[in-house]
Amino acid sequence: MDYKIPRGTYDILPAQSHKWQKLISVFRELAAVWGYAEISTPIFEQANLFERSSGESSDVVKKEMYRFTDQKGRILALRPEGTAPVVRSYIENHLDIGSPTTKLYYLGPMFRYDRPQAGRYRQFYQYGIEFIGSDHPYYDAEVIAILWNYLWQLGIRNMRLELNSVGCPSCSLSYEKALQDYFRPHLNELCPDCQTRFDQKPRRLLDCKVPACKAIAAKAPLQLDHLDEPCHKHFEQVQNYLNLMKTPYIINPRIVRGLDYYTNTAFEVIYESLGAQNSLAGGGRYNGLIEQLGGKSIPAIGFAGGFERLLLALEQEQVPVAEAPVPDIYLIALGEQAQQYILPYLNELRCKGLYVEYAPDKVSFKAQLKAANQSQARHALIIGEDEVNSNRFVIKDLASGEQHSLPLRSTEDIIRAVRQPSPDVPL
Ligand code: HAM
Repeated sequence: MDYKIPRGTYDILPAQSHKWQKLISVFRELAAVWGYAEISTPIFEQANLFERSSGESSDVVKKEMYRFTDQKGRILALRPEGTAPVVRSYIENHLDIGSPTTKLYYLGPMFRYDRPQAGRYRQFYQYGIEFIGSDHPYYDAEVIAILWNYLWQLGIRNMRLELNSVGCPSCSLSYEKALQDYFRPHLNELCPDCQTRFDQKPRRLLDCKVPACKAIAAKAPLQLDHLDEPCHKHFEQVQNYLNLMKTPYIINPRIVRGLDYYTNTAFEVIYESLGAQNSLAGGGRYNGLIEQLGGKSIPAIGFAGGFERLLLALEQEQVPVAEAPVPDIYLIALGEQAQQYILPYLNELRCKGLYVEYAPDKVSFKAQLKAANQSQARHALIIGEDEVNSNRFVIKDLASGEQHSLPLRSTEDIIRAVRQPSPDVPL
């Protein structure tokens, strides 16, 4: 074939789509019970929204952003993540008016130009939560608990929640100086990217994948040892709340998030056996972002995760996410008269929410019964000449093989027979 799907993307085929629907519906239900409402933003935004928020030196902006110019010369980008668009919308639509706190969730595709591999795509689908409006450490725990509960509820067990604090801008300054003091004697041994990062964003030196840089970074000073008093206290309180909410975590002082907007709490859920792309989800506080993007100084915290990695993890846990739906009824109509007799009921059954399959192009009884069995339908509704003449229908339980002939006065007769078969005239 001449046309191929773009590299790093995939189709969600019908055999898989019910699994996606399940992940989405469980997320929506969970978000609702915690009081979060859905927000949907466009899949493209002004490119500088991401440059400003994620950081010019971040990989997401420097290497991975799908940037394009539209017919009027506007520089736009396919969104690489959801937080900056949500904040843009929050400011633009004055969502802070009326209530001091805003609880939002979103679902949708994100785009990053990266080398595709298992669990890493160029178009991937994120679920995310953003809580805006309070710096109270309870909310850090709330957001983390939602993520943990979601993954747990779906059946993920072999995961761990890693927690860190990246401090506030003032304690970051002293930490970045400590990092520069540590890396300065090693500058010549670092990769060219890290040499640039040294001046621009020394924290990014901790995130380099080049083995030589990684080895040096392993002994670098830790942010946790450079937290000022308020940041230290916040971090302790978050842990207390997590303990109270029975959300298990471990402290990993080496978590470096790939985006620049984080302050204080940073976290990731790791699923080790996913290999290189083992981060199921991640997030943190971003107390400075709203002001940075032109809004008021309002604190916030959130997370996002990718459905692709989640499905891979569920596969490894051998969790059957969701079964494909099977028909309640498979209609077998023998001949034109039978078809005319039963079709008005068929439409009504579907209007009343029953999943009914019917294939008029299969003529013989044998072919239709075979198709009914293949569809894994629970019941076959069989109409032949006798049924038409006596105003009845035959309902066959396809698992047990048991069947009954019943009078047909309205669709309710069929519905009753399917929901709780009542023997009338056993055949
Ligand atoms: P992130 O860590 O860049 O954070 O991405 C969150 C999750 O998205 C990852 O843990 C992973 O599951 C998934 N993900 C990222 N890139 C890819 C990819 N190329 N292919 C497949 N899955 C991927 C954020 O995006 C932040 N906006 C999270 C956040 C919300 N922070 C605060 N609020």
